[in-house]
Amino acid sequence: MSKITVRKLRNMKQEGDKITMLTAYDASFAQMLDQQKVDVILVGDSLGMVIQGHESTVSVTMDDMVYHTKTVSPVCRHSLILGDLPFMSYTSKVDAIKNAARLMQEGGAQMVKLEGGEPQIENVTELSRHGVPVCAHLGLQPQSVHKLGGYFVQGRDPKVAEKMLDDALVLQDAGADMVLLECVPVALAEKITKALDVPVIGIGAGNVCDGQVLVLQDMLGISKKAPSFSQDFLTGQTEGISGAVKAYVEAVKSKAFPSEAQSFV
Ligand code: KIV
Repeated sequence: MSKITVRKLRNMKQEGDKITMLTAYDASFAQMLDQQKVDVILVGDSLGMVIQGHESTVSVTMDDMVYHTKTVSPVCRHSLILGDLPFMSYTSKVDAIKNAARLMQEGGAQMVKLEGGEPQIENVTELSRHGVPVCAHLGLQPQSVHKLGGYFVQGRDPKVAEKMLDDALVLQDAGADMVLLECVPVALAEKITKALDVPVIGIGAGNVCDGQVLVLQDMLGISKKAPSFSQDFLTGQTEGISGAVKAYVEAVKSKAFPSEAQSFV
């Protein structure tokens, strides 16, 4: 089984082959996802909510992220491992480098993700310069939930939409290898996906992006409150969790997921 690389992800975008991504936070689930050839496994700071039981991702620490990434990486033969830099772990270039190094060297990640637009240019440039693949997370940025006052669709206002497109372009120029869009209207997601050379992964951004990601517990229907853009792929499955993951991969590849009802206008 050949390992997914940044180059392969770019080729997939060019060829219109949809990229599949799911979160995992431990070896058992990661192995299952890897066997179903999920392209990217995100060790997301969503673990603060679905593993630790908190109301947000804000309390997640670097040690938490390193621990969970370390449990995922040894079992993955196929999937690229993307590790989240948690809240307050990249407030300076020095911290961004130090903590990305921890995720890659101690955790075994092959790419790191950080939230934010234009203010992250320096971090993305510096990480890129040091050989760290970066995924920039735009749209709804859950680490800023207290500043935002909740979890809402982002980019309905034309000025905000324009800024998001500009941010995506400057982050790509700074060296970002992938962009993730969370909770944005389909038309804006489509515009950003078409404007960028690097793959754009959506969550709550319609089926127009180059790929999709969901939180594993949401797509298995076992989280406390799954968002409206998610889907329970487990209920009704005869092949259990592996079958649910397989169904998700097929639905993303065929663009059946997400449907219009699971998208925002
Ligand atoms: O932490 C996470 O799981 C994420 C997804 C919501 C994309 O960032």
